[in-house]
Formats: sequence, structure tokens, C-alpha cells
Amino acid sequence: MSAAQKSYSRITTKSLSEMKANGEKIAMLTAYDFTLAGIVDQAGVDIILVGDSASNVMAGHETTLPITLDQMIYHASSVIRAVDRALVVVDLPFGTYQADSKEALRSAIRIMKESGAHAVKLEGGKEVKESIERILKAGIPVMGHLGLTPQSIYKFGTYTVRAKEEAEAEQLIRDAKMLEEIGCFGVVLEKIPAALAGKVAQGIRIPVIGIGAGNQVDGQVLVLHDMLGMSKEFSPRFLRRYLDLNETISTAVQSYTSDVKNGDFPNDKEQY
Ligand code: KIV
Repeated sequence: MSAAQKSYSRITTKSLSEMKANGEKIAMLTAYDFTLAGIVDQAGVDIILVGDSASNVMAGHETTLPITLDQMIYHASSVIRAVDRALVVVDLPFGTYQADSKEALRSAIRIMKESGAHAVKLEGGKEVKESIERILKAGIPVMGHLGLTPQSIYKFGTYTVRAKEEAEAEQLIRDAKMLEEIGCFGVVLEKIPAALAGKVAQGIRIPVIGIGAGNQVDGQVLVLHDMLGMSKEFSPRFLRRYLDLNETISTAVQSYTSDVKNGDFPNDKEQY
């Protein structure tokens, strides 16, 4: 951390807006359970996202669509119990906010009340404006999510980069401005060209957090299991792996299994 950076004992939506104003980049990671959330929080990340990517990495589904509100609340309450500093944002899962704004508000209230989370995130632009406004009016902070929004994967038909065409890029810029105007505290931009993401970040005052959106934005988010190298299959260009936990865990489990089978574990000092 540079000398000029302010230190925060607790991250709030106000801290994030200050960070953007001061040019301090925001670090965000996902977490879905007590143990890893505690490690991530103590390591100093600013935002912990209880993402609906739990559907993929925790439950093994192919998409984010199947995870339920009850399951998100379970993950979120486990995370909240571990966190002292980071702002905890929870995804509203598919099917809990699209039908109408009253249902969206009920879903957001359940997340806040039953998990103790600090904010919710939901995907989409003008089509979910009314829902976002209703949630905001109830005093619940909302983060937007534009670009490659995984809950719409069957509409897109592919996980390739979004908003490469002018019309989609212009709509994304309008949506980001709208999210700022109605009072969202931040927005995630997923898998869009870096120059477009930079233009959005420059054009609005709320923090823009990118995933596969280049480095001209106000912060970055990655799925924890991906950056720790837990899986070998998922390898998009934007993913930097900081560990090869798949290999590390596999080696440890192989050693344990062989120690048990050879009668090496437990040894004399490891028993009563
Ligand atoms: O669910 C998730 O993990 C997300 C991030 C990819 C931003 O929404």
C-alpha cells in the first residue's frame, strides 16, 4: 500500500467511492464459505462477493442458473460470520428478481435479513431498473453487473467477449450511467473490451470493477477458486492463477493416502 492510501478498518460503500476518488484500486474476490472468507478478509481484500458462481464452483453445475435463494443465503451467512473488514456483496440468483420489482425487493430483503450481508448485486441494465430502484428505496445498497452476464448465457449462446459491436457498447454505456443515476454504489463489467470499460469508468463517479475488462477500471474481481488454481479446465485469457492448489492438494492427498496404506500415519507421536 502506498503512503498516500487511507487505511480502512471497515469497508463501506462510502469507502469504495472515496477509493475511486483518490485513485486507489479496489480488490474484490468471491468466497462462499466461512474458512476461506476468513482468510480472504484477513488478507485485506476490499469486497467479498458471494457470487452465484457458487453454482459452478461449489455445486458443480454447468451454469449459474440453478442456484437458489436459500442456497445463496446459506453461503452468505457462512461468509458473513468470518468477515470483519470487507464489504460483503451477495448475488441475487437467477429467477429471484426478473419477474417483477416486488419479488426483487422480497429476495433482497431475505438476503440482507437472513444472512447479514451488506449489499446485493444483480445482473442487467434498463430491463431491471425498476427492481433496482425498489431495492434501493428500501435502503439496500445495490451493485450492478453488465457485459457478459452469466445468468443470460442461453440468450448469448457463448461465453465470448460482449459489446464488441457499437450498438451493444453504446447500450452498455447508457446502462452504466443509468445505474449511477438511480443510486447503485458500483458496477461490475464482465468480459468486454478494455477501452470500452475504461470509457465507462471515466464517465461515471461510482466504482467500476472489472473481470476480463482490462486495467483502465477502478478495481478487479476474480473467482477465488480460479485464481487459486483449484480447477485445471477453466482458463480464460483474463485469469491470472496465483497458486496451483489443484496440484498442491492432489499431492497432499496422495501422500496422506500412501502414509495410511503403509501404516506410516499416525506415528508414535501422533497418538495418545
Ligand atoms: O458470480 C460471480 O462470481 C460473479 C463474478 C464473476 C463477478 O458475478
